Amino acid sequence: MNNKEHKLGLPFEYQQMPEYFDAHNISDQTAAKNALIERLLKSQNVKTVLDMTCGTGSQVFYLAARGYEVIGSDFSPALIEQAQSKAKKMNRDITFIDGDMRNVKVGKFDAVITIFNAIGHLTKADFETALQNIRANLQDGGVYIFDIFNLQAITDDVIDDFKMDIQNVVRGVHIRNIQHSEIDRENGFLISHDHYTISKENSEPEIHKNSFSLQIYTAKELQAMLGRNGFEVVGQYDMNGNDFVADKSLNILTVAKKKSG
Ligand SMILES: C[S@@+](CC[C@H](N)C(=O)[O-])C[C@H]1O[C@@H](n2cnc3c(N)ncnc32)[C@H](O)[C@@H]1O
Repeated sequence: MNNKEHKLGLPFEYQQMPEYFDAHNISDQTAAKNALIERLLKSQNVKTVLDMTCGTGSQVFYLAARGYEVIGSDFSPALIEQAQSKAKKMNRDITFIDGDMRNVKVGKFDAVITIFNAIGHLTKADFETALQNIRANLQDGGVYIFDIFNLQAITDDVIDDFKMDIQNVVRGVHIRNIQHSEIDRENGFLISHDHYTISKENSEPEIHKNSFSLQIYTAKELQAMLGRNGFEVVGQYDMNGNDFVADKSLNILTVAKKKSG
């Protein structure tokens, strides 16, 4: 496959089915993941945070409840709307902005975060553009914290384990998603195929099929990209907060500091 011609696509629920996003993306591991991000932010003395891929606000609400000054931005207006309506229901005054991480300018923050494989939706060239823009939204010495699947550890067994069959009822609508994935190791694409069945009472089930790819990386590749875009890697971890192990950790959670100049 020619890397340049490969279109990554996006999961169906980002735009077409935003009310299903939380059912698919929030799990019993979400609170532990958010707590780990918070620990890392705290260790860097962070007070202000821009979540540039906030989705429906999982990290934003978690951090706001713990006293951080947080703003969320995301390029899916449908997900931003979900986040805003959650904030309203919780009676919280939080700013959510419709913006693309490659060019949105919100201010100068102690930290920028993009959590849950969000950078996988960007091509490598676009991730470099985003890194320059992240720098522009950070104070000198500010940190960028993000996670992405570790290409080096995604074996065929892991791909097998990624198979999912999730069923949920969202506002009376029964939604089932059967997902399977494959890997293009040469280009670093994790390709997922979703098959949704949406059953509303008294009507024929709707079927939606959708495929999308995530651009994934090795830790070394990330270090090089961060280095040439004005960041110094402070630490790399797995999603339990343990030190990163190149051929074992499924995810690379990176803390990178903006270099001055
Ligand atoms: C897997 S979701 C994670 C959302 C949230 N961080 C969470 O943990 O629930 C990835 C998010 O990245 C956003 N995203 C992807 N590409 C983006 C871009 N170029 N600019 C801004 N947001 C983007 C998507 O709209 C989606 O909300």
